[in-house]
Amino acid sequence: MKWLGLIGLAAVVLLTVGFWWVEPAVVQPIEYPHKTHVQQLKLACASCHQRVEKDAVAGRPPTALCLACHSGGETKSEEVKKIRAFGEKGQEIPWKRVWRLPSHVFFSHRTHVTVAKVKCQTCHGPMETLDRPPARALKTLAMNDCIGCHEQWEWPNEKGTGVVKAAAGRRVSTDCNACHR
Ligand code: HEC
Ligand code: HEC
Ligand code: HEC
Ligand code: HEC
Ligand code: HEC
Repeated sequence: MKWLGLIGLAAVVLLTVGFWWVEPAVVQPIEYPHKTHVQQLKLACASCHQRVEKDAVAGRPPTALCLACHSGGETKSEEVKKIRAFGEKGQEIPWKRVWRLPSHVFFSHRTHVTVAKVKCQTCHGPMETLDRPPARALKTLAMNDCIGCHEQWEWPNEKGTGVVKAAAGRRVSTDCNACHR
């Protein structure tokens, strides 16, 4: 019966490794703090993620936008020096992606942000509280999270004082091919 014990041990080891396996951390080229820019400077999300209201993708700010505030005078900040170095070389900052759906799923920010008026935080979590870039998604969306919202969504009424009941006939699609193309 010794082999049974070995199989048991192997199972425990595999389960433990599986439990501790997490997405590898994303390391960004600059330690950008959302908190300073959103909470202190009151910049709107869309002032940097400039395509979020009109396109499928949100987009990342061009180096020139950072330099509009970070180019003048002496700086002691190593991070600000890095922004200037990218600017001098005429390069965009090579930000890495954190949130990413598989390529067979279609997702549009415009539909959710502009048409449905879903808040960024509903899907991304409290980005405005971060004092450094997120190493991984604060919140992830599995297929059931997308479908769960689509199934129970009710549109706010004109005055924003209540909701238009689903009985009004309008539902958000949960067809496979609405999301899979
Ligand atoms: C001053 C510009 C600026 C503002 C304002 C800003 N962001 Fe960002 N955002 C960035 C930069 C730069 C990155 C890439 C570095 C990082 O991940 O922190 C980023 C990354 C992100 C990401 C990760 C994207 C990915 O998957 O790689 C999300 C989500 C995000 N921002 C949401 C928001 C939300 C929500 C707000 C408003 C509450 C906001 N941002 C305001 C500049 C900005
Ligand atoms: C509207 C002006 C403005 C814009 C646009 C802006 N910043 Fe800032 N940023 C500031 C201010 C003000 C501070 C806080 C004071 C300081 O540290 O310079 C700051 C702080 C920072 C810091 C912390 C510096 C440190 O070491 O303490 C980093 C890093 C930074 N910003 C990166 C960026 C990046 C990257 C972008 C473009 C995606 C950007 N900022 C866009 C105004 C701005
Ligand atoms: C209904 C959910 C949802 C809402 C609301 C939402 N996002 Fe996203 N966001 C996503 C998903 C899902 C991805 C990954 C998309 C992909 O891989 O195709 C993403 C990716 C991103 C990215 C990185 C890729 C890109 O498109 O540039 C940024 C930046 C971002 N979102 C910012 C925002 C901001 C800012 C807001 C609010 C104005 C917002 N998002 C609202 C779900 C959402
Ligand atoms: C918090 C709620 C919410 C979440 C989460 C959400 N959606 Fe949606 N989605 C909506 C609403 C509301 C609409 C309808 C907007 C309209 O047309 O009025 C919509 C519309 C869509 C449409 C267009 C459907 C059509 O019939 O034209 C697609 C595709 C879609 N969402 C994909 C996704 C995917 C993929 C995810 C997950 C990554 C997701 N959604 C997560 C609320 C949500
Ligand atoms: C509202 C959007 C939405 C709808 C509707 C939807 N899916 Fe998905 N589906 C997703 C997303 C988002 C993922 C990726 C989830 C992830 O990466 O965790 C996914 C992943 C999948 C996968 C791959 C699973 C995996 O583990 O990678 C299959 C297969 C799939 N969907 C089949 C379907 C079928 C069949 C239907 C119709 C009955 C359907 N989906 C309807 C959003 C949707």
